[in-house]
Amino acid sequence: LNKADVVKHILRDREQTPGHKGSAFAPANIALVKYWGKSNTELNVPMTDSISVSLGSLGAQTTLCVRDRGDDFVMLDGKEVSSQSSFYQRVKKYLDLFRSPLSPFFEVETCSSVPVAAGLASSASGFAALAKALDDLFGWGLDGRELSILARLGSGSACRSVYDGFVWWKRGQSMDGMDSYAEQMNVEWPSFRIGLLELSTREKAVGSREAMQRTIETSHLYSAWPEQVASDLDDLREGLEHRDIERVGRVAEHNALTMHATMISAWPPVLYWLPESVEILHRVWKAREEGTPVYATMDAGPNVKLLFEKNADQSVISLFPNLKIVD
Ligand code: PMV
Repeated sequence: LNKADVVKHILRDREQTPGHKGSAFAPANIALVKYWGKSNTELNVPMTDSISVSLGSLGAQTTLCVRDRGDDFVMLDGKEVSSQSSFYQRVKKYLDLFRSPLSPFFEVETCSSVPVAAGLASSASGFAALAKALDDLFGWGLDGRELSILARLGSGSACRSVYDGFVWWKRGQSMDGMDSYAEQMNVEWPSFRIGLLELSTREKAVGSREAMQRTIETSHLYSAWPEQVASDLDDLREGLEHRDIERVGRVAEHNALTMHATMISAWPPVLYWLPESVEILHRVWKAREEGTPVYATMDAGPNVKLLFEKNADQSVISLFPNLKIVD
C-alpha cells in the first residue's frame, strides 16, 4: 500500500469538484513523549505512540485554490517559494496525492508563525493546515481521524497538529496505517506553560526523516527506545491527569534526552545541539536546584522549549529573559 492508496481509500465517496477557495489554521505541537523512528517509512507509521501539546495560536494559516495551467504556485509568508527549494518540492509531492482533471495544480499561500525547519515543528503545523485546507476546498467534511491520517502522510508529527491541547498519537497495528492517528486527550490544564528559546532559525543540516532512519540502522541504543517510551507514556498520562508539573516535566525532559542519546550514538552521529543549547540545559538544572520547577525538551533542532506552570512565570522569565511564552 502506498500514500495514494490511503488517500483513495479515505476519499472514496467524497466530492471531486473543488470549491473556489479553502483555508485553515493548524497549531504547531511539541512532543512530551517523542516520536522517533518509523515502522513504515512510506506511510510515516511510527514505531511507538507519542504525546504532544499544541501551541495555541502559533502555527500555520494556509489558503488554497486550484490553478488550471502551469504548475503549483507556493507562497510562504508573503514571498513566492522557488520551485527549486526543498520546501516547494515537499508541498508539491504532497499535493500530487490530491490532483484530478478538475484540480491539476494548486496555488498555496501559507503564513507560518513558527520558523520553518528549525526544530520548532513547522512541518507539523504546515501539513496539518494543508490537509485541513484541502478538506475545506473540496468540502469533504472529513472527521478528526481522517484528517489526522492525511496529515500524517505529509509529516508524521503533523497528525497531532489536527487538534488543540494535549494529543495522543496511537501508532496502530495495521500495515496500512489506517489505525495510526492522533486523538485529543481529555486533559484541561490552563496553567500549563510552554516557553520557546529560539537559538537558531537556520535550516537544519539533517532532516528528521533521515536522522530517524540513520538512528534505527546504526545505533545500538535504539533497541532500548520503544521500552522507555512505553513506560513514559503511562507515567505522562498519570502526570497529566493530576496536572503534576514535576512528574510531567521529569518524564518529558528524560524522554527528550533519551531520544537525543539514540541519535548521538548513530553513525555518522546526529547532534542537533549548539553549545548554547547545552548551556541552557545547565541553567534549567540549576534553576530546579534552586527551587523553580522548570523542565526542558528539544526536538530535531538546537532550540530549547521550557515547560513550567503559570505560578513560576516570573522566576522563569527572570532566568531566561529571551523566552517566548506560548499563549
Ligand atoms: O514529523 P517529523 O518527521 O518532523 O518528526 C518529528 C520528530 C520530533 O519532532 C523530533 C519528535 C516529535 O514527536 O515531534
